[in-house]
Amino acid sequence: MNQPIIGNQGALDASIQLDAIFRAFPDLLFCLNTDGQILDYRAGKTSILYLPPEKVLGHPIRDALPPDVGPKFEHAFQETIKTGKVVSIEYRLKVPEGEHWLEARLVPIENEPRVIVIVRDVTERVRNAERIQSQVRRLYALHAVDAAITASFDLKVTLSVILRQLINQLEADAADILVLNPNTHMLEFSAGQGFQTKQPQPVMIGQGYAGKAALERRTISVPDLGNQPADSLLAPDLLREKFANYYAVPLIAKGQVKGVLEIYHRSLLQPDDDWLDFLSTIAGQTALAIDSAGLFQDLQRTNAELSLAYDAAIESWAQVLELSNRESGAHAYRVVELTIKLARAMGIAEQELIHFRRGALLHDIGKLGIPESILNKPGPLDEAEWKIMQSHSQLAYQLLSSVNYLAPALDIPHYHHERWDGSGYPEGLREEQIPFPARLFAVVDVYDALTSTRPYRPAWSPQVALNHIQQYSGKLFDPAVVQAFLQVMRERS
Ligand code: C2E
Ligand code: SIN
Ligand code: SIN
Ligand code: FE
Ligand code: FE
Repeated sequence: MNQPIIGNQGALDASIQLDAIFRAFPDLLFCLNTDGQILDYRAGKTSILYLPPEKVLGHPIRDALPPDVGPKFEHAFQETIKTGKVVSIEYRLKVPEGEHWLEARLVPIENEPRVIVIVRDVTERVRNAERIQSQVRRLYALHAVDAAITASFDLKVTLSVILRQLINQLEADAADILVLNPNTHMLEFSAGQGFQTKQPQPVMIGQGYAGKAALERRTISVPDLGNQPADSLLAPDLLREKFANYYAVPLIAKGQVKGVLEIYHRSLLQPDDDWLDFLSTIAGQTALAIDSAGLFQDLQRTNAELSLAYDAAIESWAQVLELSNRESGAHAYRVVELTIKLARAMGIAEQELIHFRRGALLHDIGKLGIPESILNKPGPLDEAEWKIMQSHSQLAYQLLSSVNYLAPALDIPHYHHERWDGSGYPEGLREEQIPFPARLFAVVDVYDALTSTRPYRPAWSPQVALNHIQQYSGKLFDPAVVQAFLQVMRERS
């Protein structure tokens, strides 16, 4: 007679107990009988409840599990009933928003035909474990790179170790390292892996994605490469590789750009923070490796850096000359332009042109030491004045010769008033004794001087000036230069 009451009381107790467990493990809870039928459940996260709620009670637990998990669960369920021990399984549940990792703990109830199943969402734990694993792998990779940097004096070996680690850890399909040559300002291909076609060509700083990354000192990423417009900054060869994703990372050590790291994926990529962290760490190490390999002599490197500062200084000297009312600034730039044209026409190599440019810009820097009263005298100079005037080319030499980096540019300021027949100054050199840049420049300088207004005479017309130059070919001027000059002037008009 008491039995129904006791029965009800038992059911109520069980419910209270289930609630208590659910408070401790609030994700998902089932109460099963020994046939695996769901007698009761609690669901905190309905997203991990495989069935719609109305289809849970009274249904077999296997219906509440993904099909691929059923056999695994069944096995665990039998074991827990047989042994009376707690058994755990882990399984994956795919839901529209992604996937969950779940842990199910099967707890048999002593002396009762019941099993409690405590399901917990362990996605975060599994992800963390994966993350830690990949961090550890990447840490090993970085150690391998460190070891390579320390052990090898051969930069190519070090860079290929770096690329191998990088391709593995970042799951890339190809990668390369471009090293900046500070003399030419070109990014030169130094190591690469994973390319099917030929290796990338050198690029100028500022050109292409790699050049842009170096110039702007920032990582550039291009997703969906296949759908980039035709005028893409990517080399056409690389498009044939069918890459989907691209990264260009500037390699910066001690504040200086050493090169660019390029990474390619053939599949689309969604990098997480760890991926990006690893990338930036390995980029830093690569930059240090390049730096410490001493690929270029310190001296050369220093000069390359100074050269930028000096070029700025040269420009301002040309301006000082103008501001001090000693020379028209426009003259300096006009002769630079014509000098470069003529030098090119005479087959001077591109990398030599910079010296012609600097020399031309500075050719009359020595006039800074000449009194303005002489320079701007509205008539002919007397002998003493003329001597002082002539000292401007020697003065330029004295001013500039202490600057190493201007050495190859010095011939123009020093010898631009030498004459083919030996009647010039400061040394009275003749013909081929006169350095070629000075012979070339002399023609340009006289042409521009004659066609400009001077305090002591008005400007000559271009035709009269050209006639004058032709007339003195082989006397004042190198005939080969005059010939090329006349050709350039004909093409210009
Ligand atoms: P600049 O005016 O730049 O002239 C450069 C060179 O162009 C001269 O070198 C000379 O070879 C040629 N040139 C310039 N004007 C004439 C001209 O009217 N006739 C001819 N035949 N050639 C000319 P140069 O002679 O060694 O002179 C060097 C600098 O000395 C000139 O540079 C100018 O600043 C100054 N200078 C030369 N002659 C006079 C002058 O009669 N009076 C004044 N005040 N300055 C002069
Ligand atoms: C319990 O919570 O122990 C009871 C489970 C059940 O019998 O439904
Ligand atoms: C309950 O309602 O929690 C108890 C279910 C059961 O033991 O059948
Ligand atoms: Fe001069
Ligand atoms: Fe001049």
